[in-house]
Amino acid sequence: MLVSGSGTNLQALIDASSAAEYGAQIVAVGADRDGIEGLARAERHGIPTFVLPTSQFEDRPAWDVALADKVASYEPDLVVLAGFMKLAGPAFLALFGGRTLNTHPALSPAFPGMHGPRDALAYGVKITGATLFVVDEGVDTGPIVAQVAVPVLDGDDESTLHERIKTSERAMLVEWVGALARNGFHLDDRAVRLGGDTHDHQP
Ligand code: GRF
Repeated sequence: MLVSGSGTNLQALIDASSAAEYGAQIVAVGADRDGIEGLARAERHGIPTFVLPTSQFEDRPAWDVALADKVASYEPDLVVLAGFMKLAGPAFLALFGGRTLNTHPALSPAFPGMHGPRDALAYGVKITGATLFVVDEGVDTGPIVAQVAVPVLDGDDESTLHERIKTSERAMLVEWVGALARNGFHLDDRAVRLGGDTHDHQP
């Protein structure tokens, strides 16, 4: 898993994967910055961690190659980005395209980017939510695995709305990462279908 922040989505997956029947284990947690709660959560559970700040690399493509190599060293079947505030680059997608998931706190295709809850509030929508998708080269544009709707309530600010979204987002993530890991999945154009061997997928 890759994280940049508090890691409550990570925690939900850590908790779920403590049951053998869940069907997925977290082999490593990586981050683009040090000192975040997401890494501390992994460490408390004995999960290997690594940190690759972009500032330690000459440019973004060099970071992208290093990230791809580092993730590959753990031989994951799936990569889950949860609150990871960097875009996957071409080197990463060459290795992990089609089997990297990300979760976005809005109902795609509405409100892509870094401020989904804020943008939904500013627009005045009454329903927003979260979207789990297969990462492609765009910003929150990949094939959709699952979505969950969340109401916007009178008096919401960005924080209260985002927290409500995150409660549903975590449940969606746990449900679907488990289902994808247990069943495998494949892409049929933009449809994500359960079944099929994710291991054999070539981007
Ligand atoms: C989630 O809402 C995620 O979709 C967004 O940032 C939040 C991360 O939360 N990109 P956490 O770090 O898992 O608590």
